[in-house]
Amino acid sequence: MHKFYFGINGLPLSNAYPSIKDLSEEQRVQIVQRIFSSVTDRYDFLNHFLSAGRDKAWRRFLIQRINFFSTHRLLDLATGTGDVAIDAARHYPQIRVFGLDFAKAMLNAAAAKIDPSGLSGRISLIQADAMNLPFPDESFDALTVAFGIRNMPDRRRVLEEMVRVLLPGGKFFCWN
Ligand SMILES: C[S@@+](CC[C@H](N)C(=O)[O-])C[C@H]1O[C@@H](n2cnc3c(N)ncnc32)[C@H](O)[C@@H]1O
Repeated sequence: MHKFYFGINGLPLSNAYPSIKDLSEEQRVQIVQRIFSSVTDRYDFLNHFLSAGRDKAWRRFLIQRINFFSTHRLLDLATGTGDVAIDAARHYPQIRVFGLDFAKAMLNAAAAKIDPSGLSGRISLIQADAMNLPFPDESFDALTVAFGIRNMPDRRRVLEEMVRVLLPGGKFFCWN
């Protein structure tokens, strides 16, 4: 009988996985990054299948509530394969969208959808951690995150970053 051993960032796992409490924030971030990098090619299918197609309606509901009043720039955090970014750019032809995610494979999948959509001039994809946003203060009218914040270990830090990059009066739309 074979016994399998796994390791996460130098942390040995034998029969039992360590409790989430025993992982450092960095280890948790790396695990999330690896998980999403490994499911990229099945992500859209699983999302639609497991939600019985409701994920599309949930995103539509979210997007219809956004309003733009100054920069006409939207930041979509944890953009994944880009569905919120794409739908928002289609729904609001005057805006520019920034889709941010830390998993390169997910961003590649987003780019593969954006390129043929004719929206690449209005959607920029950025690889970064939502806990350290690479934007100056007060850069966006609105900020979205769909099915993403639950995977972020330090939500307080993410919220502080969101408030920093939002214009006063800007809104944050979260679908979790
Ligand atoms: C469940 S997917 C959601 C994707 C997309 N928003 C959607 O509606 O389908 C979660 C995404 O969050 C990203 N993510 C998780 N933690 C992150 C972080 N700290 N910074 C940036 N992206 C993160 C993952 O790489 C993954 O692509």
